[in-house]
Amino acid sequence: MGDIKLHINRLSKEVISKAPRKRQESQNKIVNINLDLDAGSANCKFVINSEYSDTFTTIFKEVVSELPLGISGCFSIGSKNFAVGQVAHSLNGNLIEACRDNKIKRLDVWLIGALTSHPDLLTDIAGKRKYKAKPARLKITLRLLSLSSSKKNDIAKILQSVKSFTCSGQVFEIEIANTDYLFPEGYGAALEALRHIPEDIKTFDILDLGGGTITFSTYKVGRLPKAIEQTPGSGNGMKAIIDSLSIALCREDRGGLQFRKENIESALRNSKPTGDGKHSCLYRHGTTTLEIGDTVAHSLSEWVMCYPIVESLLNKVSQSLLNGRYVFATGGGFARYDNGY
Ligand SMILES: Nc1ncnc2c1ncn2[C@@H]1O[C@H](COP(=O)(O)OP(=O)(O)OP(=O)(O)O)[C@@H](O)[C@H]1O
Ligand SMILES: [Mg+2]
Repeated sequence: MGDIKLHINRLSKEVISKAPRKRQESQNKIVNINLDLDAGSANCKFVINSEYSDTFTTIFKEVVSELPLGISGCFSIGSKNFAVGQVAHSLNGNLIEACRDNKIKRLDVWLIGALTSHPDLLTDIAGKRKYKAKPARLKITLRLLSLSSSKKNDIAKILQSVKSFTCSGQVFEIEIANTDYLFPEGYGAALEALRHIPEDIKTFDILDLGGGTITFSTYKVGRLPKAIEQTPGSGNGMKAIIDSLSIALCREDRGGLQFRKENIESALRNSKPTGDGKHSCLYRHGTTTLEIGDTVAHSLSEWVMCYPIVESLLNKVSQSLLNGRYVFATGGGFARYDNGY
């Protein structure tokens, strides 16, 4: 019996020592990237590694043909080709817009769209990797500005589903490093506001007029701002104003020419105060230039009266100002083009 035990022991030692050693697979080193991302319904704003900031229109196409080379925001996930931002207009495929409930659903595309919109980042990382036949590996530390903190689980699921993508023929593996990435929409403005308020101020408000939403938030002052209230008016942002303005402009018969939304938007951006509490807004319509300042004012009052949430949020702002509180305005709706730029 003792002999048999000894034999088995010896045998198992031999098996262990003869077991083939697992070869360590060589992989490229992980490259850490910091990404701040605000994929809004009109524009995706982002900052990479605290030094490169950029925006693109939050639209993309699933391109049917091969992707053009050397164009910003073009990449593939699996067998699908994507082009984000304005470039999508020059390619054929199905157009997807963030404003049609795709802000969160296609967060994967906006995120990779941001990385691939950087002119050098991915080329540099791919060029410096040791094993050229293997994918480059990215670890993203993310800060995501979103109104949809209630969709935390959906967001986590979408972000976990992004495993790799191809850009200019190079494969990149991608991983999100952190889980505490969600910040309230308008948080960037709150950080900026902190730099401008006197030390004794304990709370302040932010009004964010975006492409699709208008949001009123109140923040508590700390080392970092903390939101204590956030009231969104979803669907009532700049798009609602532009829609109501284009309807108002069409009421007057000016022949067969159509008012184009993008031209209305650029006319609004370039509107100027005339000094008497009014604004001048010039719109090029065919061969004539129209002064639409009054129509803009009428549409704005319609926007306030037809959407109760807008009226209530603007009332909050008025009350805050009456109480002597600090209110900061942010979002593309408040952007100004001074001196025509
Ligand atoms: N200089 C500008 N650049 C971009 N958008 C501008 C500018 N001036 C005015 N706008 C208007 O602001 C809107 C975009 O604002 P913003 O980028 O804040 O929206 P968003 O964050 O994408 O939308 P949301 O916050 O509703 O999801 C555009 O629809 C446009 O009408
Ligand atoms: Mg926004």
